[in-house]
Amino acid sequence: MTRPAVPKTVLITGATGGIGGALAEVYAEAGNTLILQGRNVARLAELAALCEARGARVLTRELDVRNRDELSAWVHEISQQEQVDLVIVNAGVNINIGPDGAGERWEDVQALIEVNVLAAMATVNGALPSMRARGQGQIALISSLAAYFGLAATPSYSASKAAIKAYGEGLRGWLGPEGIHVNVIMPGYVDSQMCRDMPGPKPFLWPADKAARVIKSGLARNQSRISFPFPLNFGTWGLSVLRPAISQRILRLVGYHG
Ligand SMILES: NC(=O)c1ccc[n+]([C@@H]2O[C@H](COP(=O)([O-])OP(=O)(O)OC[C@H]3O[C@@H](n4cnc5c(N)ncnc54)[C@H](OP(=O)(O)O)[C@@H]3O)[C@@H](O)[C@H]2O)c1
Repeated sequence: MTRPAVPKTVLITGATGGIGGALAEVYAEAGNTLILQGRNVARLAELAALCEARGARVLTRELDVRNRDELSAWVHEISQQEQVDLVIVNAGVNINIGPDGAGERWEDVQALIEVNVLAAMATVNGALPSMRARGQGQIALISSLAAYFGLAATPSYSASKAAIKAYGEGLRGWLGPEGIHVNVIMPGYVDSQMCRDMPGPKPFLWPADKAARVIKSGLARNQSRISFPFPLNFGTWGLSVLRPAISQRILRLVGYHG
């Protein structure tokens, strides 16, 4: 498949977070338009000023992505107005079973699936009509290495990221022939509030700016799966191909027992 055109207009959901903010900064340059979504208005304004100082034109939108109809309608409208080249579906949340293994609260599980899965799909749904009409565009879905093999401490999060991985792979097969590039991003541990709030070991932790540079470069090459860092990527992929009983034993040995 051909390489995508260098994106001039980039929409990022969850731009107010660690990875989203770093992505906004790597795409912030003269001639580019950034469309940044988040809930934290103060952080959105701060980020917009930073990106504008680098020469980018910036549009911001405060929106709770759980309002899926509003989200999809906004993405649809802005995609028609601005001819968005690249949509980075990044907004996400994480929950865990708690320090004593009590379990995830059902309300939290539902909220997580709403944000990580349904809102991600609503974003894509809003972006597709304009991209399909033009026969070009790129969609980057932020999954996680946790998609390879469910982690005991974060079963719902792992499931949500596995859903996004499969969704992105399916979209790529469907939309590639139409000229729309779809990429699945699978980061390991990247420094952000979400990562800091996570229990358990965090080997090979990357700063967000490094992750953003690697994602940008993988997207420019239209890599179907952009997964990093190498040792953790290889290890977690290995867990998905071994017999599950062996994978569980390995995870327990390295401290991922919930
Ligand atoms: N950090 C890691 O180690 C890691 C690893 C693998 C994958 N990821 C994925 O990377 C993505 C970005 O995460 P991050 O690490 O940058 O975490 P983060 O700093 O906590 O950022 C999360 C972002 O999602 C937005 N968001 C969450 N719920 C929302 C809602 N209901 N409505 C609107 N926006 C909402 C937040 O916006 P507000 O703050 O404005 O509410 C924020 O911009 C997520 O999809 C995450 O699962 C992260």
